[in-house]
Amino acid sequence: MRRPIIGGNWKMNKGLPSEATDMLKKLIPLVKNIDNIDIVIAPPYTTLIPVINLTKNTNIMIAAQNMYFEEKGAFTGEISPIFLKELGCSYVILGHSERRDILKETDEIINKKVKKALNFNLNPIVCIGEHLIEREANKAKEFIEKQFRISFKDLSDEELQKTVIAYEPIWAIGTGRTATPEQAEEIHIFIRDLIASSYNSKTAKVVRIQYGGSIKPSNAKYIFKKENIDGGLVGGASLQAESFSEIVKAANDSPF
Ligand code: 13P
Repeated sequence: MRRPIIGGNWKMNKGLPSEATDMLKKLIPLVKNIDNIDIVIAPPYTTLIPVINLTKNTNIMIAAQNMYFEEKGAFTGEISPIFLKELGCSYVILGHSERRDILKETDEIINKKVKKALNFNLNPIVCIGEHLIEREANKAKEFIEKQFRISFKDLSDEELQKTVIAYEPIWAIGTGRTATPEQAEEIHIFIRDLIASSYNSKTAKVVRIQYGGSIKPSNAKYIFKKENIDGGLVGGASLQAESFSEIVKAANDSPF
């Protein structure tokens, strides 16, 4: 009942229109027959316009990598949800661990952004996940529960159902060290149980929970086989059309 979703988070790469469009011109034909899953690409802001133009009338949707929680005004350097919606973004990634840890975004800030994105009909992809230190101290679930409770505070059932949760253990991001499918599934079940207890069982069944952290063509199909893993958020391997399309195909062929 959940449609899997694969996202390519380009992070601060391919910010020049020519590099972004070169990549997408290769990707579009490689994934054109994929119809069981949603495909989302999150380029830097500087390439949103050419990327949105190029992917019109394709099966690729576009996400921004961040946004601000105000609509307009004196917020130098920030980007409004209105701009993103008007340009044609369908999704927005919020609370990525790089924004939390490097740019000091708190769960409270992320909560404001999630609500604002939903107000403007942008589907949030909200990242949560523990550092190595919490995992090793056996406190991963406690850490994730706090992120969950604050980041999704005061959302209605319908709003949470439109939200995608990306479980991204920070120790697995860009390290080549993937969570095993069993480790990831355990946390996905934990998050789904949190949704069931704080919302209801219908919402818990509907919300899509992606895994992110060193997904590669070689490990994708093992991760996507797990019942509670509804796709992935891919960093490094989303930068090449070939590797990203292989991951997309692994998800499309997986018996979700
Ligand atoms: P990597 O796939 O490079 O580990 O990055 C994952 C990520 O942070 C996606 O948002």
